[in-house]
Amino acid sequence: NIGKSTNIVWHKCYVEKVDRQDLLQQRGCVIWITGLSGSGKSTLASALSKGLHVRGKLTYVLDGDNVRHGLCRDLSFKAEDRAENIRRVGEVAKLFADAGVICIASLISPYRRDRDACRALLPEGDFIEVFMDVPLQVCEQRDPKGLYKLARAGKIKGFTGIDDPYEAPLNCEIAMRQKGSECDTPCEMAEKVIAFLEENGYLR
Ligand code: PPS
Repeated sequence: NIGKSTNIVWHKCYVEKVDRQDLLQQRGCVIWITGLSGSGKSTLASALSKGLHVRGKLTYVLDGDNVRHGLCRDLSFKAEDRAENIRRVGEVAKLFADAGVICIASLISPYRRDRDACRALLPEGDFIEVFMDVPLQVCEQRDPKGLYKLARAGKIKGFTGIDDPYEAPLNCEIAMRQKGSECDTPCEMAEKVIAFLEENGYLR
C-alpha cells in the first residue's frame, strides 16, 4: 500500500460550509470557463471577479496559465497531463467552493470527460460550466500570444484546435456566443454570468 492514500478517515469540522456561506452571504460554487486559447477565458474570469467583488462577493480565480507556474508546473500538454491538470484544479476549486468562495476556473480543459469529472466532484448545481463559443478562425486571428502562429509553423506540437482536439460542451450552463461579427464586451459577458448567479440564488 505504500504510495497510495489508504487507512484514512474523514474528519468533520465544527464550522461547516453552510456557516461560512452565512458569514459571506453567498453560495460557494465553481464557475468553470472552458474554450480555445484566445477565446477570452482569462479576460472573462478577470471581469467576472471584478464584477462580483464590487458587489461585495468573495471570489478567487484559478487560471490555467497561472497554475501552470506552480501547482501544475510539472505537467505538459499531453492528454494525460492535461487530465491531471484539470483534476488538480478541480480539486482545488472544490476546496474554494467548500470555503464559501465563488471560484472561477479558466482553463482550456479540452476534454469533456475531464470537465465532467470536475463537475462530479461538486454538489449538484455547484459547478457552472461557461463555454467560450468562439470559432477557431477568430481565436487564431486574435492570436494574443502568437502561439497559433508558432503552432502553424510546427514550432509548438499538440496545440489545441490545430493538432490537438477541443471537445465543446454538450450541456453547459452558459454559452458565450458571437453575434455575427460582433462580440460581447468582457463586462457584458460578466453581467450575463452574474445574472445567472442572481437568478439561481448564488448571491444573497
Ligand atoms: S489545459 O488544456 O486545460 O491543460 O490548458 P491550460 O492549463 O488552460 O493552459 C493553456 C495555456 O497554455 C499555453 N499553451 C498551450 N495551450 C494549448 N495547447 C498547447 N499545446 C499549449 N502550449 C502552451 C497557452 O498560453 C494557453 O493559454 P490560453 O490562456 O488558453 O491562451
